[in-house]
Amino acid sequence: MMSDAVPTPFSGPPPTSGEEEAPLYVRIAGDYAERIREGALSPGDALPPERKIAEIYGVSRVTVRRALEQLVLEGLIEQRQGSGTYVSQRLQQPLSVLTSFTEDVRARGMTPNSQFLDRAIGIATPEEAIGLGLKPGQGVSRIARLRSADGIPLAIETAAVVLDALPDPTVVTDSLYDVLSSRGMRPVRAIQRLSAVALDKRNAELLDVPPGSPGLYMVRVGYDAGDRPIEYTRSFYRGDRWDFITELA
Ligand code: GLP
Repeated sequence: MMSDAVPTPFSGPPPTSGEEEAPLYVRIAGDYAERIREGALSPGDALPPERKIAEIYGVSRVTVRRALEQLVLEGLIEQRQGSGTYVSQRLQQPLSVLTSFTEDVRARGMTPNSQFLDRAIGIATPEEAIGLGLKPGQGVSRIARLRSADGIPLAIETAAVVLDALPDPTVVTDSLYDVLSSRGMRPVRAIQRLSAVALDKRNAELLDVPPGSPGLYMVRVGYDAGDRPIEYTRSFYRGDRWDFITELA
C-alpha cells in the first residue's frame, strides 16, 4: 500500500550553530531512515513517487534520486522496475558491531519472536567443545530457536553457552544477550564465519521456503571480557531476507 506517512521535512533536530549542515540528500535519506527504524514505514510500504518527494521537500528530483540511492545502498529500500520504491523486506546485520538478533530486528521497527526447538543442558558436541575450549564430556546450556520478525521466520539459531555464564537455559525466554547482560556476561567481542549454503529440507521447512533455497550459515564464537569463549552459535539465515553490512574506512 502507498504510505501516507510522509515525513515532515527535516524532522530531525536542527543543526546547532557552527555545525556544518549535511547535504540535502543526506538529510532526506536520514528522515526516511528514521521513519523506517521507528516503524512508521513498514517493510513493503510504498514510498511516494520521486516527483512528490521533491515537492514535499522543495528540492530537485536529482537530489531526491541521490537520497533514494543512499537508502538503497543502506539496504532500507528497494526500487522495482516500473513499479516504484518500497521499504525493503530485508534486514541488516552490521558485521562490525556485536549486535543480537533482537537488536537487529528492533532496529527495523519490527517485533522479534522465538520458537524454542531445544532449551536444555547437554553434553557439548565435539564442534562446540572445540569452539568453547571445553574438555570432552563437559556440559553446555543449549538453546535452539526458530527466530522471526513480525511473524516471518528468518533464522534458525543453535547457541551453546558455557554453564557458568548460563547455568539455567530455561531463563531465556526472549533475548539470550539480555539474559547474559543481566549476569554481566554479554560477549564483548566475537569472531564470525559466514558461508553461503543451500537450505536442507528441514531448515527450509522451518524457514518457510522451498528446499534448496539460498541461505547464509554463520558461526559466531563470542568472548567475555577475560577473552574466554562463552558462546558458540550456529545460525541459518534466509538468504532472501538478510543483508550483512560491513563498514569500510
Ligand atoms: C545473533 C547471533 C547469535 C546470538 C544472538 C543473540 O543472532 N548470530 O550468535 O546468540 O544474536 O540474540 P538474542 O539476544 O536476540 O537472543
